[in-house]
Amino acid sequence: MSYLKAVILAGGFATRLRPLSCSRPKTLFPIVNKPLLQGIFEELASSDVEEVVLAVNALTQFHIKQQKLSKCGLKIRYVIDPPKTPLGTAGSIKNAEKLVGHDKSFIVLNGDILTSIDYKQLFNVHVNADALATIALCKVDNPCRYGVAELEEGNRIKRFIEKPAEGQAPTNLINAGVYVLSPKVFDYIPERGYCSIEHEIFPVLAKEHRLFGHMFNGLWMDIGKPEDYLLTNKFILDRLALANELKTFKKAKVEMPIAVDTHVVVGKRTVIGPYVTLGKNVVIGDNVQICNSIIFSDVKIGNNTIVDGAIIGEGAIVGENVHVNKRCIIADQAKIRDNVSLNEDLAVCPAKEVSETILKRNIIC
Ligand code: GTP
Repeated sequence: MSYLKAVILAGGFATRLRPLSCSRPKTLFPIVNKPLLQGIFEELASSDVEEVVLAVNALTQFHIKQQKLSKCGLKIRYVIDPPKTPLGTAGSIKNAEKLVGHDKSFIVLNGDILTSIDYKQLFNVHVNADALATIALCKVDNPCRYGVAELEEGNRIKRFIEKPAEGQAPTNLINAGVYVLSPKVFDYIPERGYCSIEHEIFPVLAKEHRLFGHMFNGLWMDIGKPEDYLLTNKFILDRLALANELKTFKKAKVEMPIAVDTHVVVGKRTVIGPYVTLGKNVVIGDNVQICNSIIFSDVKIGNNTIVDGAIIGEGAIVGENVHVNKRCIIADQAKIRDNVSLNEDLAVCPAKEVSETILKRNIIC
């Protein structure tokens, strides 16, 4: 198999995952205690990809380098968006033009998806169709949140509509956020500034009959919103549960599936699970209940606290007798004092302190 290159788009602002994404790029969010980007590297390396260009902003590059991920034998290079100027998906692909070169087609993928797609197969389909772009397509129940493709004979895409209005999607086949581009596509993207491949380039290529689709049935999940992120972890926990032995703590109860990283301490009469991931060095007190939640590394949770369906960021401290309700997001290093109850859907920004029960406001910053 010849040498494959991939561009990973990972420089967006991840606004829908705020405030967790204020201190960590989306592509480094842990999926069952492993950064998403690490899983992406593993998948690409096993598909004969040899070189990866990470299209990021300077802060995302800093965070990725700090993580010291295994490169899995890939040659990794970075292309950085100019300061304060988001380039969008197509703009950041254009920015990678010099590094990618014009010798052959290349794979592009969003840095916020988990997929089992066969990249080699997608590449071969693209080459055989003599396409300018070939989008991996998967079927979903509600396509309106995504880019929707209408196919005609020979898997040519007749129309591509980004985020159609409710009820207006012509099919339920969506852009999986993975595609192969011919280097000729660089000529369709303006030299500088913001440009969206989904809004501005795919529809043009479809009109010129040079846009193709490749349907696949494997795993595909994106972590764009908190509920997607929780669901992705839940799905992977279910898969791992089959392979993993039952996790036990000396004096606490476990309801599988759960995943526990190293140096975790759990107190007496505490119940962990189902669907909980505990990151490194998490310390949990006595008589605590945690279910359907993601707890990042270095979190401390006091006695008699309940966490139900929430995400708690790295280094956060949750006091005793606290109730963290469904869909709450407590960002990195935030502190929740004792005896506080957090209403459903409440978000606490990084390093903020909450000392009284919050029933009405949605965000504490
Ligand atoms: P939201 O603000 O929540 O919509 O997230 P996002 O813009 O970060 O992600 P979106 O799903 O809209 O973008 C798809 C992928 O493209 C993600 O992996 C982003 O990181 C990436 N991306 C989006 N905009 C840019 C950009 O301006 N520059 C770069 N380098 N990547 C981008």
